[in-house]
Parts: sequence; C-alpha cells; structure tokens
Amino acid sequence: MRKKIIAANWKMHMTQSEAEAFITTFLRELKDNDGVEVVIVPPFTAIPKVSELLSETQNIKVGAQNMHWERSGAFTGEISPAMLRELFVRYVVLGHSERRALFGETNEIVNRKVRAAYEEMLRPIVCIGETLAQRERGDVEKVLSQQLHGSLANVDAKELHETVIAYEPVWAISTFGNGIPAKPDEIHAAIKWIRSILGDLYGEQMATDMRVIYGASVDTEFVPSILGLEGIDGLLPGAASLNYAKFAGIIEAAYKMLHSGEKS
Ligand code: PGA
Repeated sequence: MRKKIIAANWKMHMTQSEAEAFITTFLRELKDNDGVEVVIVPPFTAIPKVSELLSETQNIKVGAQNMHWERSGAFTGEISPAMLRELFVRYVVLGHSERRALFGETNEIVNRKVRAAYEEMLRPIVCIGETLAQRERGDVEKVLSQQLHGSLANVDAKELHETVIAYEPVWAISTFGNGIPAKPDEIHAAIKWIRSILGDLYGEQMATDMRVIYGASVDTEFVPSILGLEGIDGLLPGAASLNYAKFAGIIEAAYKMLHSGEKS
C-alpha cells in the first residue's frame, strides 16, 4: 500500500532560529501522524537544525528544495547530494516550477539531478505542472508527458520506486495564482494521466505502486476534497506549511481520512 506523504515546502522562508521555533511548537501541536509520512523541506541553512530537532521523531523526515547533480567540484554557490545526505536529508524536491521559471531549469537538468539523487539514496520529489497559457491552449497532457519523459530519462524501474511525482499546476500555486487549488476534477484528470504515462514507461505495476501527490494552494479546508481523489497519495503545501497550526491541521485531516472507518 502506498504510504501517504505530506511535505512542507518552505521555499525561501525561515531563518535557522525561526525554523527552530517552528519545529518546537509544531511538534507540540502535532497529534498522531501514524501512517502519514511528514517531510519538512527547509532552506539549506536551516537543514542542520531541523534535522537535529527531528532526529528522535518517527515518520517526520527532512527534505531539501534543490541540489546540484555533481558530488563535488567548482560550482560556486551550489550544494551537492552528498552534502545533503550527511545532514540526514531523505527527500529532495526537484524541478519545482519556481526553479524552472526563475532559474532556467530544464527537464534535462532535472533529470541529471534525479539520477544523482539515487546515487546518494535521496528520494526525489519531482515536480511537474502546466502554466495557465499551456492549459488554455489545451496542452496539459502534452506538457506533463514531456516533463515526465524528460525528468525520468534513463531512470530504471528499480530506482523509480522511491520517487514521488508532485503535480503542481503552476497557475494554482499561491505565488502565481489566487490561492485557490485546481478543481478536484482537474486534479483527478492530471493524476490519472500521470499514472498512465508511468504505466507506458514502466508498466502497470509501477504506475500503481508509485506515489503521486498534489501541491498548489493546499490548505486545511481543501484536504478532504483533494486527498479523497482516487490515485492521490499526498500533498505538498507551500504557504500553508509556514504556519505550524495550519500545517499540523493538514496532517491531522490526512490522518483522520486515513483512519476513518477503522473504528466503525
Ligand atoms: P503553495 O506552494 O501551497 O504556496 O501554492 C506550493 C508549492 O509551490 O510547492
């Protein structure tokens, strides 16, 4: 069974001391998250502190927002997979739309990073999603297909198993849109399409086993309608994850959905 995952993309927010205050309060606020894997994805500078604070927790892991694909070298300003691994980072977000739009990341670059992640036993969370113009042109399927094929080129099924695909429609991300997620039927159609591409590339079993999640303006109130969709394994909130009560609320809502029915 695919384990649910809720990952907090903090983007360029939280100094180390702010992160420390957040995690301390968040851990106090968080109720049971058994069966829901939580990932905190801070900026690089807060990773050591967040890792230290989470070292005793079960089911809460640390992620990074980006990395270079080389192990070391003359790449001023970059961070390598090995450097992250040493800080107990388990996940790495790759190909986020802000990286693609603002820093020129192509599918080829994302692919290099994805393959480098496996070498350091990091699990990639590969972000894909169309812009508004692409949606209006009717190109959603084409764009998602290109992004998946490009980002996963030369990745074999064994490696892929630990990979998470995040569908993040660019137009619905809070920084670009109006803070409202895509409609459930739009999300459902995209997730179904993503799984069908994975099926073409890696076979039905892999398409069923892999985790596919949604991100873009996720907030507590939207959790039931999004997580209730068939084929969705989790969420990648950005803005809402900067508020410990909201983020804990998202996890609690996911936990309740997962365990509803167990007592009846
Ligand atoms: P948002 O960000 O929840 O603020 O829309 C999500 C993301 O960009 O990963």
